[in-house]
Amino acid sequence: MRPLTTSLATSTLALDRVTKRFPTGTVALTDVSMSVAPGDFVSVVGPSGCGKSTLLRLASGLDDATSGTVDVTAAATSYVFQDATLLEWRSALRNVELVGELRGVPRDERRARAQDVLELVGLTGFEKQHPRELSGGMRMRVSLARALVAEPDLALFDEPFGALDEITRLQMQTELQKLFRLKRFAGLFITHSVSEAVYLSTRVLVMSGRPGRIVAEIPIPWDYPRPPELRYAAEFAAITGRVSAALGEHS
Ligand SMILES: Nc1ncnc2c1ncn2[C@@H]1O[C@H](COP(=O)(O)OP(=O)(O)OP(=O)(O)O)[C@@H](O)[C@H]1O
Ligand SMILES: [Mg+2]
Repeated sequence: MRPLTTSLATSTLALDRVTKRFPTGTVALTDVSMSVAPGDFVSVVGPSGCGKSTLLRLASGLDDATSGTVDVTAAATSYVFQDATLLEWRSALRNVELVGELRGVPRDERRARAQDVLELVGLTGFEKQHPRELSGGMRMRVSLARALVAEPDLALFDEPFGALDEITRLQMQTELQKLFRLKRFAGLFITHSVSEAVYLSTRVLVMSGRPGRIVAEIPIPWDYPRPPELRYAAEFAAITGRVSAALGEHS
């Protein structure tokens, strides 16, 4: 099965028949073909150890495929990890400014942009606080702001909300969905949560157990913004049911 619903020519990220074998002999991915175009928010769900983080590392260029091709046309890619990975000695604002600083963006300009993005993620008033003075959810907001301040064409997320409590996690999903609606980057989002995948995405890919391959592709029909109550609708349950069934059959 080769789930390619967008043409390769318009994709920001395209993997074609990708296999990844580590020097240890572990085959993490086999025959993975997928693509993400601007305006796509694609989530990947699959059992632990099936190669999801490996897929993201290949997409980011941190690692190479053993066979097959990985094409990225993005001018700017951002990567959000499970931990917020902030610099403890810099304030929230200066963490977000870091990307501009490294690129030589003039101070006033990078500061103004960082302020704007912090406002988007609901952190106005907390700019001067250091990471240790922020809650886990706030730290993740800073991490999202840092990823989006560079206006990425391709945004990669590796279970960014996995460590958050349920209430904060739902809030963060709503925030991210708002940001996606505004920025319309190409998004690739890894998660263990089926409802998170369905709520956030334009498409959900289901992976099998290791070696991971894509066993189902489920399009999600709703426009953005998506109201939080959508999660309680019968049509939402019907789609999460389809994703869970595909996961159950192949894990
Ligand atoms: N650098 C590496 N060297 C050798 N094996 C690796 C390496 N990185 C990952 N693996 C192996 O590849 C497989 C897939 O790992 P990966 O981290 O991609 O899984 P995952 O789907 O992200 O799991 P989880 O849901 O637990 O985060 C695992 O068996 C892992 O042990
Ligand atoms: Mg992982």
